[in-house]
Amino acid sequence: MSKKGSIFFCQNCGTSSTKWLGKCPTCNEWNTFVEEKINRKESKKDSFKSTKISSPKLISDIDYSTENRIILPDNELNRVLGGGIVPGSLILLGGDPGIGKSTLLLQFALSSKSKRILYVSGEESEKQIKMRAERINKNSKNCYILTETSTGNIFQQIEKLEPEIVVIDSIQTLHSSYLESAPGSVSQIRECTAELIKFAKETSTAVLLIGHINKDGAIAGPKVLEHMVDTVLQFEGDRNHIYRILRTIKNRFGSASELGVYEMNGSGLREVANPSEILISERDEKTSGVAIAATIEGARPLLVEIQSLVSSAVYGTPQRSATGFDTRRMNMLLAVLEKRCGFRLGAKDVFLNITGGIKIDDTAIDLAVICSILSSDQDTALDTQICFAGEVGLSGEIRAVNRIDQRIAEAEKLGYNKIVISKYNKLNPKNFKIEIIKCGKIEEVFKLLF
Ligand code: TYD
Ligand code: MG
Repeated sequence: MSKKGSIFFCQNCGTSSTKWLGKCPTCNEWNTFVEEKINRKESKKDSFKSTKISSPKLISDIDYSTENRIILPDNELNRVLGGGIVPGSLILLGGDPGIGKSTLLLQFALSSKSKRILYVSGEESEKQIKMRAERINKNSKNCYILTETSTGNIFQQIEKLEPEIVVIDSIQTLHSSYLESAPGSVSQIRECTAELIKFAKETSTAVLLIGHINKDGAIAGPKVLEHMVDTVLQFEGDRNHIYRILRTIKNRFGSASELGVYEMNGSGLREVANPSEILISERDEKTSGVAIAATIEGARPLLVEIQSLVSSAVYGTPQRSATGFDTRRMNMLLAVLEKRCGFRLGAKDVFLNITGGIKIDDTAIDLAVICSILSSDQDTALDTQICFAGEVGLSGEIRAVNRIDQRIAEAEKLGYNKIVISKYNKLNPKNFKIEIIKCGKIEEVFKLLF
């Protein structure tokens, strides 16, 4: 007879306790403990069997070479992983439902023709996956599909097939027979991930996990999940737009500020090698209210287009709304314009939009935001060959921004003639062909433009 017990798990951080607690001692959250049944006897039979007994080794004796990485056919994925997949690593891909996580990994599984890949799906049937593969229009002789949710059965199949890369769609659908709780519960997620980690490290097989995210945008399940894996990637974007951004949140084997850009079209995801080109809408005639900002997302310089519309307020209280930019910061910039430069924007509606459906946190786009608002207010179009990179302070001064060289180089690469930056940014203008205009105050920029 199997010995059964129950353990209480904190649904927030995954801490376990033998009795119910009102407040979690680890994460200090209240009322998060839930009882889950444990089936101890099953564990030995089903989970991944380790065969090795590890012993201490001299660090100089451990061989390692960078060539060990598995280079993928997808350049954007290579970039966010820091130059390919490290064998034996666990990669977690999170993102909103319907954003394209399954599409991205199936596409990757079908295009890596030289590696044997097992794609385990607990969400879709074989036929549905085949349909998706048809849609992506790719086929591979080395990609195997398994529709299974029990980790015990998955490991049995893995032992037979010996794949080099395993994709799991998704971790929330897996269950281990060791626990009685439902798939997707904190203890199940933690247990299944632990089994997969043991498997990945001992067999040097790379494992890619898809993880759902909850309504706060965090990966559903305990926070420990993110601590357990080697790399956490986030797939984001606006579902109404076609562009998707793949961001590194954590990476034990590379930079955690990398960014990949994809375009979702009728036949799967397409890599976008030069994102600036797509973020700037094509325009033939000059329109007022448009300014180009040289920003940096992650480690990647990007040029984005900022549009604004300033019009007389119809109702007593003017409306202010921003898409892709922090509304509070926009209000602050409007107050600076009002107080320091004497623009009467208090009785005007202001709408701001960053095109392409992306969100920008970088304060270096302040200057472009201000110029776009002024351009709409004055109803005068800006020169289409000019772009901006500068932070605006509360007294209307233009402050220096980081990595200005990269921003200028990107503007130059895209064929802009002029860039307005802060006069406090130190750089050698001889390095660039583009005309660099240095300003210290917003008034100076205003005089320059209008
Ligand atoms: P999916 O990968 O199922 O999302 P997730 O696994 O993150 O939940 O993506 C589904 C969306 O992508 C769906 O709205 C349809 C769209 N899509 C395309 O636009 N083109 C395609 O080729 C495919 C396969 C999907
Ligand atoms: Mg999916």
